[in-house]
Amino acid sequence: MDIDRGGGRGLRAGLEETLREAIRSGRLVAGTRLPPSRALARDLGISRGTVVQAYGQLVAEGWLSGQRGSGTVVARTAAPGSSGGERREAMPTRWRFDMRPGRPDPSSFPRGEWLRALKQAFAIAPDDAFGYGSPQGRLELRTELASYLARARGLRVTAGDLLVTTGFTQSLVLMARTLAATGVRRVAVEAQSMALHREILRAAGHELVAIGVDADGARTHELESIDAGAVLLTPNRQHPTGATLSAARRLQLLRWARSRGAIVIEDDYDGEFRYDGRPIGPLQGLDPGVVAYGGTTSKTLAPGVRLGWLAVPGDLREAVMAEKRRADWHAGALDQLAFAELLRTNKYDGHVRRMRLHYQRRRDAVLAAVHPGLRVLGGAAGLNLLIPLEDPLQEAAILSAARLEGLGLGGLIADGFCEPPDSAGVIVGYAAAPRHAFDRAVETLASVLGRQ
Ligand SMILES: Cc1ncc(COP(=O)(O)O)c(C=O)c1O
Repeated sequence: MDIDRGGGRGLRAGLEETLREAIRSGRLVAGTRLPPSRALARDLGISRGTVVQAYGQLVAEGWLSGQRGSGTVVARTAAPGSSGGERREAMPTRWRFDMRPGRPDPSSFPRGEWLRALKQAFAIAPDDAFGYGSPQGRLELRTELASYLARARGLRVTAGDLLVTTGFTQSLVLMARTLAATGVRRVAVEAQSMALHREILRAAGHELVAIGVDADGARTHELESIDAGAVLLTPNRQHPTGATLSAARRLQLLRWARSRGAIVIEDDYDGEFRYDGRPIGPLQGLDPGVVAYGGTTSKTLAPGVRLGWLAVPGDLREAVMAEKRRADWHAGALDQLAFAELLRTNKYDGHVRRMRLHYQRRRDAVLAAVHPGLRVLGGAAGLNLLIPLEDPLQEAAILSAARLEGLGLGGLIADGFCEPPDSAGVIVGYAAAPRHAFDRAVETLASVLGRQ
């Protein structure tokens, strides 16, 4: 093996890239055992520490897997076409430093607690948990969730009001279809919002109208002149600007919804993480009759878990459940029971509390590292910061400089947050990097931003 020693990147980076390229090209196939670090270091005439660090980095990125005592091997999922020529899916981009928005720290997933909860779920699951169940979800989970949501988020719900989904994405699909079936045609969305959410609403046949967003959150008074049957909002922390919907706008919004018979879809995607100021209660707690509230485990646990919930006004409940049955009948019963166990034993509350501190420290580290000349929004809560920029070219330049360093960031234009793309900005997701990579991710971010 010849390591690329050039480019001033250092031996370790050269060795990492050589190995990545060998795996990418199929020269090193899945399952290949790599030489022990000592032997490879001797062969290449470099220090053993350099090899150990390079192996460690590639294990973290998923190219290699390492097990104590059995050496380091090329990971099963790493190489395209590596198991005998059949076509494989393209590998997703792997960032050396992941600071993309909306992703929690994967290295902090409570594996032990989840495993214990799952074991307990298997041990106590009644036989009916292995059959088809209610589209509404397991009563065990809805009971625990109703109590958690009342004590931690100030919701006004009972187990009967809740529907278990596979995340907010599905909650929105179900609401979009239900509203379309009840005759709603026009839905208002925030001018800066997730492209996927707009796509879901349009796919259900809705026409979208954007309302503006400022430092007090969505400009809900604009709804008065729009003939919309529903509005999708992120009131706790506007995504992606980070603004909180003001108290006056909350009251005006609910008055509007009551008087029009309209539905407010409340996306409480990261309401658990507020660092400064008092926690803000959801709209649902003010008027459960007009608010369809969606929550998720995607930020508190991990998006891969695929568990969320929807509290729906009573008159829509049957229709939403019918949509859920048509979509996939119900969420996986054993995961529901495991999550119920995590809630029942207060392990979920404890995890959320620990993660809140963890992310607050990370937010402070990023704020300290960002050049004081840059304006930063949205630090009081959530998992992202927004650096608004005047010039779309500047957004593109920062994202491309970051990409060259292996640093993944979000962009208002690049990620399609606005239609038309008239606001630029870089979004820094400070939760996404695993613990071992965070400090270097922040250094890389500071250096990329400092060069602009
Ligand atoms: C604004 C917003 N809402 C909701 C979600 C969560 O969706 P899900 O629960 O389907 O993972 C995300 C995740 O990125 C988000 O950014």
